[in-house]
Amino acid sequence: MYEEGQKVFRHDTFGSEAFWGDKLQLHRAILGEKQGGVGPGVSPKDALKLGLKVDQGEMPEAAVEMIKRASLDLEKPETTLALLKANAVVGVTGVFKDGKLVSMGIQCALCHSTVDDSLSPGIGRRLDGWPNRDLNIGSVVALAPNLKAYADLLGLPEQELKKILESWGPGKYDAEVNHDGKAFRPDGKSGATLLPAAFGLAGVNNHTYTGAWSNVTYWNAYVANTQMRGQGVFFDPRLNDAKKYPLAQKLGDHNIRHDPDLVTSKLPALQLYQLALPAPRPPRGSWDEAAATRGSAVFGKARCSSCHVPPLYSEPGWNLHTAEEIGIDDFQSSRSPDNRYRTTPLRGLFTRMKGGFYHDGRFADLAAVVDHYDRHFKLNLSAAEKRDLIEFLKSL
Ligand code: HEC
Ligand code: HEC
Repeated sequence: MYEEGQKVFRHDTFGSEAFWGDKLQLHRAILGEKQGGVGPGVSPKDALKLGLKVDQGEMPEAAVEMIKRASLDLEKPETTLALLKANAVVGVTGVFKDGKLVSMGIQCALCHSTVDDSLSPGIGRRLDGWPNRDLNIGSVVALAPNLKAYADLLGLPEQELKKILESWGPGKYDAEVNHDGKAFRPDGKSGATLLPAAFGLAGVNNHTYTGAWSNVTYWNAYVANTQMRGQGVFFDPRLNDAKKYPLAQKLGDHNIRHDPDLVTSKLPALQLYQLALPAPRPPRGSWDEAAATRGSAVFGKARCSSCHVPPLYSEPGWNLHTAEEIGIDDFQSSRSPDNRYRTTPLRGLFTRMKGGFYHDGRFADLAAVVDHYDRHFKLNLSAAEKRDLIEFLKSL
């Protein structure tokens, strides 16, 4: 079941090629005019710049050797096509007919896997569950020749959708905007959230930054159907709310019924796989052990552990809090059914040092997070205590 779940997580498109390829024509932007598509095409170099990753394990041996000798042509869209044929582009699957790319779909791994760069930057062994904080999803989607199909779906002018996609930036995506239409915060900043970790989730009750959507398998069905636009079945009457989720109601996303259903039968193994992914351990030497031991005591003294309960580092039970409790605004929490933020499980923080912390990356680094708590909870931590606490966080 674990192996089946891994296959779904890495390779199943849930029929999403009907949207990304057939409708948006994204594959034609990859091909480029010279190969029968549109525009200049997407070379491996362009793809890596957009944050897409290449799985060394799926690359033909000859191509690996060519990368090592730096003789693989990474400037040509033809090479991207060869990588797609080998199924080596993480999270993207090409549909080929008589050797020709005729459509493409996406997978969970697009956003929730990265690679260890073992061969070269962006090319290496797959790391499932690690958020791809380099991936500029908005820019990838914006390449689509028929973006209008997406804009129409949302009832927006195409220019408006482009503005939204451009606002996300690397490592971010907005998984609610097609339901509530709230693309921008009141201060004008993007409403997108950082891609979270999809490891270390066993034992954690509510999922996503705002939690009350529900558990892992709920969210998997939500994403596969309403975000990846796979061809499945999904039901959530809470989205049938003209005030809070006007677009969801218009789209009919509260009650999706495809026949055949390409999602539901995959949910059990997919859930099991995610729950089986352990949080990775930070590499030795990446934190100061003596300071971390002292920092562990600060974590208790400052009552961090009252919410981030070890060893889960989230609350066993109902792990949700109001915006006031944690001292931030309620823009994102108010987009969820329960108007709360979920206590983020803290293990494996070292995998998400890019893009900042908290749901929207508002705190640039761990020092900024600790300073925020110090102010908000009036902790009066000394500079040494703050340093130790940060080393402890880095050790998780
Ligand atoms: C386009 C990028 C993207 C794709 C594709 C995607 N996700 Fe996500 N995922 C996100 C974002 C962004 C969030 C955070 C959403 C939020 O908090 O509102 C998220 C949240 C999650 C969470 C919650 C993690 C936590 O901290 O509790 C899980 C689990 C998850 N996704 C699994 C999946 C699975 C399984 C698939 C495939 C069916 C998938 N995702 C596809 C972007 C993506
Ligand atoms: C009242 C409960 C509560 C307490 C107490 C608390 N946290 Fe948090 N913590 C949260 C919530 C909720 C979030 C998610 C906020 C968001 O994403 O906007 C969070 C997020 C974080 C993050 C960011 C994780 C990420 O990946 O973005 C870190 C780091 C963190 N807390 C550390 C601490 C430390 C250190 C303390 C003690 C000084 C502490 N927390 C005290 C509830 C709490």
